[in-house]
Amino acid sequence: MKIVVATEKPFAKTAVDGIREIIEGAGGELRLLEKYTAAGAFCQAVADADGLIVRSDRVTKEVIAAAKQLKIVVRAGAGYDNLDLPACASRGIVAMNTPGQNSNAVAELAIGMMVYMARNAFQPGTGSELKGKKLGIHAYGNVGRLVAAIGKGFGMDVHAFDPFVPREAMEKDGVKACDSAEELYGQCRYVSLHIPATAQTKQSVGYALLAALPKGGCLVNTARKEVIHEAELLRALEERADLKYISDIAPDNHAVLQEKFGGRYFSTPKKMGAETAEANINAGLAAARQIINFLTNGDRTFQII
Ligand code: 3PG
Repeated sequence: MKIVVATEKPFAKTAVDGIREIIEGAGGELRLLEKYTAAGAFCQAVADADGLIVRSDRVTKEVIAAAKQLKIVVRAGAGYDNLDLPACASRGIVAMNTPGQNSNAVAELAIGMMVYMARNAFQPGTGSELKGKKLGIHAYGNVGRLVAAIGKGFGMDVHAFDPFVPREAMEKDGVKACDSAEELYGQCRYVSLHIPATAQTKQSVGYALLAALPKGGCLVNTARKEVIHEAELLRALEERADLKYISDIAPDNHAVLQEKFGGRYFSTPKKMGAETAEANINAGLAAARQIINFLTNGDRTFQII
């Protein structure tokens, strides 16, 4: 049983040690491919793999074609837009994610980004507090719920919009349910994005929503760059000098945004939402357990397809 862990952005060493213990403890063999730069190296590494663990690494149809013995791929994390699911399905390869395992790390970063913007990007001068401000959660999943809970701890007035979550579930958490994204953006000073990147959501956050933000509005994106309509973001920031955008995923037009809107635009150099030792351990070990449980017992918990 050969399991490949292919991570262009490596897990913390403690997580790798734990993954190795689980795999070797079940009689398997671990092959580690870290910080690789060429897709060819990825294809080579999976040639005789039975199982594959990745983070945001792109599991393309080429990778799937090269992995002749592959039975399962687990995305150690939440978003699986990096997996070519039709290619997996065509070969009967099971695909899974590890929902919830890295959510707290992402939620803490989202709140940290709000503080950063509220305090003028940590530059001298008078900032503002999060307390008492309206926080909008766009998609009330694992991360959204945690951002809501932390926001409440800061004394924020929390609202949420998610067409797939009953409003009672939000209200039970003390969160005000909105009926539309327009309603959410129209009233919340801070909006935290937690929608996945799908055919329906790509470029769905554009001018209309951004322009609806109240004075001093700030959009926090720890989700995916693809959900933003970048040309419309640029237009909204150009038209309103009070708007702010902070992202954990550099947009394609990062250089332009940085040059034009420095101070009210910021992006991390490399996606770091789930970059904590805790999240690496939680997601990495869960992925290893899921692979072993599937290969040894046929357990399909958290199967996507
Ligand atoms: C996720 O979808 O789980 C997050 O975006 C984390 O991605 P990462 O594993 O590349 O840090």
